[in-house]
Order: sequence, then C-alpha cells, then structure tokens
Amino acid sequence: MRDEERDGCMVTVCRDCCCGSLSKHPAVDHDRQLERLRAALAPAHQVRTSLCLDACSQSNVLVVQPAPEARRRGARPVWFGLVLDDLVLDDITAWVAAGGPGRAEMSAMLELSRITPP
Ligand code: FES
Repeated sequence: MRDEERDGCMVTVCRDCCCGSLSKHPAVDHDRQLERLRAALAPAHQVRTSLCLDACSQSNVLVVQPAPEARRRGARPVWFGLVLDDLVLDDITAWVAAGGPGRAEMSAMLELSRITPP
C-alpha cells in the first residue's frame, strides 16, 4: 500500500531507555506488546518503535497519530502512558481499530491512560 493511499493511524511505541526496559518493568513482556499490536492492527494501521519520547516517568509510552484524513479535519496525536498491561493495550488497540483520533470515541477507562505530551 502506498503512503498516499494509507488512511490508517500510526501507532508509535516508545522503546528506549525506560519504555521496553526489563530492568524498569520486569513483569512486562515488551516484545509481546509489539507483536499483539501488529497482529491486531496491521496492515490497516502502522506500528513502529521510537527512541525516547521524553516522558520516561510514564513508561511505557505509546502515541497514536490520526489517520491523514482525520488529521486534515483537526485530529491530533494522542499520548498514552503506563501502558504496562494487556487491559490498557487491548483498549488502545480497539480504539485504533475503530478509527482512533478524530474518528472514534474513547472509553472513559482509556481516557485515564492519556498523558500530556512533554
Ligand atoms: S524511553 Fe520512552 S519516554 Fe523515555
């Protein structure tokens, strides 16, 4: 699929000094998080990793960028912090699959995981 044809979200999963760190979050299977996101969202949505997003105290951090059409209508990236269990990961996945920023309502529970971008 060419980029100009893509109309899905971009999910950026921070993986650097703190996010994805086994020493900081030994109970989290960080690789499995990525596999689950990709399995559930690709190819309609892209999932990529990034270097530190400067919000380490909120690790694991994940950012959902709106689909291009939603962005043109004013939707903005949504940041999530403390993405450390399957429950919040599943909520994020379902929301992105439903359209993500500017296209789908976020549950009250998922709102609690939103963070302010640094
Ligand atoms: S390593 Fe993810 S915010 Fe710093």
